[in-house]
Amino acid sequence: MIARLFGRTRAELSKMLQFPATERNKGPILETLQKALPPDTEGLALEVASGSGAHITHFAQHFPRLTWLPSELEDRNLQSISAFIQHTKVSNVNEPVLLDVTKDAQGWGGGLGKGSLTVILNVNMIHISPWETAVGLFAGANYLLKPGGYLFLYGPFAVHGSLTPESNVKFDQYLKSQDCRWGVRDIDDVEKLARTNRLQMHQMVDMPANNKMLIFQKED
Ligand SMILES: C[S@@+](CC[C@H](N)C(=O)[O-])C[C@H]1O[C@@H](n2cnc3c(N)ncnc32)[C@H](O)[C@@H]1O
Repeated sequence: MIARLFGRTRAELSKMLQFPATERNKGPILETLQKALPPDTEGLALEVASGSGAHITHFAQHFPRLTWLPSELEDRNLQSISAFIQHTKVSNVNEPVLLDVTKDAQGWGGGLGKGSLTVILNVNMIHISPWETAVGLFAGANYLLKPGGYLFLYGPFAVHGSLTPESNVKFDQYLKSQDCRWGVRDIDDVEKLARTNRLQMHQMVDMPANNKMLIFQKED
């Protein structure tokens, strides 16, 4: 019995992916969420591109009245998220759903329903994927967020055509060398996309390691 339990735990642990950047930024991201959202915020919070699941299982413990829905495109990440849920025993995180953000939001999560979400969170995705992921993310936020609902978008950004410091310029070059459709986005382009999707940027927060959190709210 003990061996079986131990074996299960070991199998679980082996599926839990560890990304150093995710470990480093989860504290600062949580602080930003806590400043923007009252702790008694209720409803459904969707994370798009949850990666390992380390973020969502951490944040959910600090917002117990939100139900958190993780999502991912890659199978090994979906397995890692489930392992994180089991390991942390957090009770307000649903099993992850397969979600390609470039697909029609009406089908996300098997059909979440228009205006069904209080929060959407997306960390470090839109620069490590084609621009279509940003287009899909905002279209999804337009369809799925309730009036006044929040979209939190985290990553490095250029501001009005200027990308600083040098380390971000190098990172942008590196991304483009991996895939010419990738690259650090400019807040002007992101804000334009937001406006066409009935979202207003109401805050831009400077984060450690030259990242930013852009906070958008859905119009009434
Ligand atoms: C750098 S990882 C970030 C993961 C996680 N948010 C974190 O910060 O640890 C980027 C993620 O974007 C996901 N992704 C890329 N294209 C996607 C798409 N079209 N739809 C949904 N997720 C996508 C990848 O599967 C990957 O897990």
